[in-house]
Amino acid sequence: MPERIISTKSGADEPKLDISLRPRRLEEFIGQGKIKDNLAVTIAAACARKESLDHVLLYGPPGLGKTTLAYIIAHAMEVNIRITSGPAIERPGDLAAILTALQPHDVLFIDEIHRLGRTVEEILYPAMEDFALDIVIGKGPGAKSLRLKLPPFTLIGATTRYAMLSSPLRDRFGAVYRLNFYTDGDIEAVLKRSASILGVEASSDGLKEIACRARGTPRVANRLLKRVRDYAQVRGRGIIDRDIAVTALGRLEVDAAGLDNIDHQLLEAIIEKFSGGPVGLETLAAAISEDADTIMDIYEPYLMQLGFLERTPRGRVATPRAYDHLNLKYPKSRPTLEPEPPPQGSLL
Ligand SMILES: Nc1ncnc2c1ncn2[C@@H]1O[C@H](COP(=O)(O)OP(=O)(O)OP(=O)(O)O)[C@@H](O)[C@H]1O
Ligand SMILES: [Mg+2]
Repeated sequence: MPERIISTKSGADEPKLDISLRPRRLEEFIGQGKIKDNLAVTIAAACARKESLDHVLLYGPPGLGKTTLAYIIAHAMEVNIRITSGPAIERPGDLAAILTALQPHDVLFIDEIHRLGRTVEEILYPAMEDFALDIVIGKGPGAKSLRLKLPPFTLIGATTRYAMLSSPLRDRFGAVYRLNFYTDGDIEAVLKRSASILGVEASSDGLKEIACRARGTPRVANRLLKRVRDYAQVRGRGIIDRDIAVTALGRLEVDAAGLDNIDHQLLEAIIEKFSGGPVGLETLAAAISEDADTIMDIYEPYLMQLGFLERTPRGRVATPRAYDHLNLKYPKSRPTLEPEPPPQGSLL
């Protein structure tokens, strides 16, 4: 399958783009004002006390800046950052090796922390709570438990699936921040900054046009900017103005709301094959030959944000707005929508 231009996932050719455009300091990090304010205070306080920062959990859809914030935090604390991910830590021993190699106050960043195995997660509890590592030596009745001291460190966990985290793990984070989609204005600011770093000339109309199709996601904004820049270079005078942006984005098949073919297929499937829903996620995934997890992590959050799709107890439902966007008539006989209750134990 060709790579989606508006995919919020990081693409194979993007590490270089990510590094050059990734903000390094909190002041350069655009938007997410409340999170920034809170972080600035806790970082300053921890630095003043010469302590490690409380463990931080960052969650939200892909491409909104979780990894970027982890780097920024480590940079601000002037400590090393050790990067790993849930699926990469296969055995408890792997995590023990990482933990014992940390320097005092270091940041350990675990991406996709919801994918940690149970036995690995259990090593993490005393490590987070008491900076201790419990090791069992031997087997059977003669087995002994040994407690090793770890240097104080900060765990930063990132996840796109808050609900999949076990509650003992959630409870051990001192701060939990949910990243939200960015406003069009914030995305414009991201684009302006990126255009200046890349040395691209762009009018504010041109950037506005890209911003409103970037799904409220900096990663998507930067990717669209790059593609529009290519188009401006080859078909225009190298300057991104509104006309160039509209034409380039049209050719990339990103519509005025930032939806691409697959979003269209998804909504059309709900409307045409399942009479507007509700339809179960697995059934919907099969109908459009997509992976259910991909639909849930990447497509749905933005469609829900736009108010085009709702998750109800009985499945996914296309809203009147979705019909409108697709120029379809909303049937009069449709039942009213009942939104899904918020997950139990949710902090926010
Ligand atoms: N607030 C921001 N200001 C400017 N640029 C940003 C901001 N947030 C993210 N970016 C840009 O978007 C890119 C993607 O961000 P990042 O990799 O941190 O997302 P993520 O939330 O970790 O995504 P994933 O869930 O896929 O790991 C970064 O390389 C950076 O260039
Ligand atoms: Mg990341």
